[in-house]
Amino acid sequence: MENYLVAENLKKVYSEGNKEVVAISEINLSLKQGEILVVFGPSGSGKSTLLHLLGGLDRPTEGKVLLDGTDLSLLSDEKLARVRNEKFGFIFQFYHLLSEFTILENVLLPLFIGKKENIKISRERAKDLLAKFGLEDRVHFYPSSLSGGEQQRVAIARALINNPEVIFADEPTGNLDKEAGDFFWECLLELNRENHQTFLLVTHNEVMAKAASRVLTLREGRIV
Ligand SMILES: Nc1ncnc2c1ncn2[C@@H]1O[C@H](COP(=O)(O)OP(=O)(O)O)[C@@H](O)[C@H]1O
Ligand SMILES: [Mg+2]
Repeated sequence: MENYLVAENLKKVYSEGNKEVVAISEINLSLKQGEILVVFGPSGSGKSTLLHLLGGLDRPTEGKVLLDGTDLSLLSDEKLARVRNEKFGFIFQFYHLLSEFTILENVLLPLFIGKKENIKISRERAKDLLAKFGLEDRVHFYPSSLSGGEQQRVAIARALINNPEVIFADEPTGNLDKEAGDFFWECLLELNRENHQTFLLVTHNEVMAKAASRVLTLREGRIV
């Protein structure tokens, strides 16, 4: 579908004491379903801010985000949270696995927040996802017993358990060595090929830049 995810004249201003920081401004973009957008830019250029606005984790100071024709700025906090839970998956550098739950339970968590699903089918689906990422032997382990790369793969599985239409990832491999990082990106690319999920990624990984439908570079909050 044309214009599945659209940003119109997005701007975000943060207030710090009596100082204002323009994190991003004049951002316009439009993605079709299944497209991969890779965002480049130096530290502080507004990459995370842009992802947070597009993912409905924060609201713009000006402009709007349209998802499949729906203006996210018109939704209540509650409705926006529901859209995030049902349609979006997030993968961050600090993966926030809950240490008191097993790997399998961590992956299942979004389902407890969202709509009620058949728990047996969900467990099978979670196990399948974990197997896909080479973690079939670890489902009953706790996060602390896994390496950084393994934990990050658990975080992808968790982001995918709701079968989201859009995956947001913000420098997810920043803590990983090259091998673990490349494996992570290969897993993600395979999902894009299989399910045509839309990806919005902040990464400097060159493989992803080549695979991207579009690469956007930010400098001081603007597209260059
Ligand atoms: N919550 C916040 N409060 C104040 N300033 C912020 C906040 N988040 C980000 N900024 C500022 O906005 C700019 C863009 O930040 P960010 O989007 O995190 O950039 P990047 O992800 O490219 O490193 C930076 O100048 C940063 O200091
Ligand atoms: Mg950032």
